[in-house]
Amino acid sequence: MSLQGKVAVVTGASRGIGRAIAVALAARGARVVMNYLHNEEAAAEAAAAVGSAGVLIRFDVADSEAVNQAFRQIVSNEGGVHILVNNAGVAVNALTLGAKDADWQRALAVNLGGAFNCTRAALRLLMHAPGGGRIINIASVVGETGSAGQGPYAAAKAGMLGLTKTWAREYASRGVTVNAVSPGFIETDMTRAGLSPERRAEILKTIPLGRVGTPEDVAAAVVYLVSPGAAYVTGQVLRVNGGLLM
Ligand SMILES: NC(=O)c1ccc[n+]([C@@H]2O[C@H](COP(=O)([O-])OP(=O)(O)OC[C@H]3O[C@@H](n4cnc5c(N)ncnc54)[C@H](OP(=O)(O)O)[C@@H]3O)[C@@H](O)[C@H]2O)c1
Repeated sequence: MSLQGKVAVVTGASRGIGRAIAVALAARGARVVMNYLHNEEAAAEAAAAVGSAGVLIRFDVADSEAVNQAFRQIVSNEGGVHILVNNAGVAVNALTLGAKDADWQRALAVNLGGAFNCTRAALRLLMHAPGGGRIINIASVVGETGSAGQGPYAAAKAGMLGLTKTWAREYASRGVTVNAVSPGFIETDMTRAGLSPERRAEILKTIPLGRVGTPEDVAAAVVYLVSPGAAYVTGQVLRVNGGLLM
């Protein structure tokens, strides 16, 4: 499967799952526009891993004006966009009683608002993509199961599933397919932060395949969904979770 001639925008591509997606799409021939926000060093390292097919762009997905400006720059530099992967995300951990307004607002603004802002900015470009446009939203198992201590994050991820199905209906006739990939427990900075060895062992017991997932496991699902073989797949949620939720 070749993605030669395609331009993919991957948000949050400096680390973890987004980085693996950028590497996997570039390995199949796509030009990859790699977004990040804070971590210059990780972004430079990820861009080096992607090689000459990758280009970095820094913006906050939660800032709609910055997103619009970034997509204007992408069109002017790359000519168009064929694939958008809404991956940028932040984990916000707070029990509901102790949650601050800022916890709620940030979780929604980045995880859900970010996907909304980027999709709205990219849609016209995706409609004009030869062979059809593709949107992949990186959701989460907790959007379906809930997660004690992660209400705002779980709400944002559940919201992504609603947006996935809505956009799939709204833009099918314009040649754009929209799907979500819903990862379970994947080894990245996000899951390494603040997780005790005991809690990690407990989580492992709930995964039938008996291991934590890798960013490459998730990237492989994205590669499938942007491939020609997935042309008749839209509005779906592909779970990549080792059987954690069936
Ligand atoms: N890891 C898991 O187990 C898991 C499970 C389910 C779903 N997910 C989802 O998968 C996605 C990737 O997670 P991950 O584990 O790879 O996380 P990660 O290692 O923490 O990486 C997060 C990425 O998002 C970027 N980012 C954060 N806020 C941003 C913003 N406002 N604007 C632009 N970029 C921003 C970060 O950029 P900087 O480097 O510049 O900070 C980084 O590239 C997220 O949506 C997450 O919710 C992860």
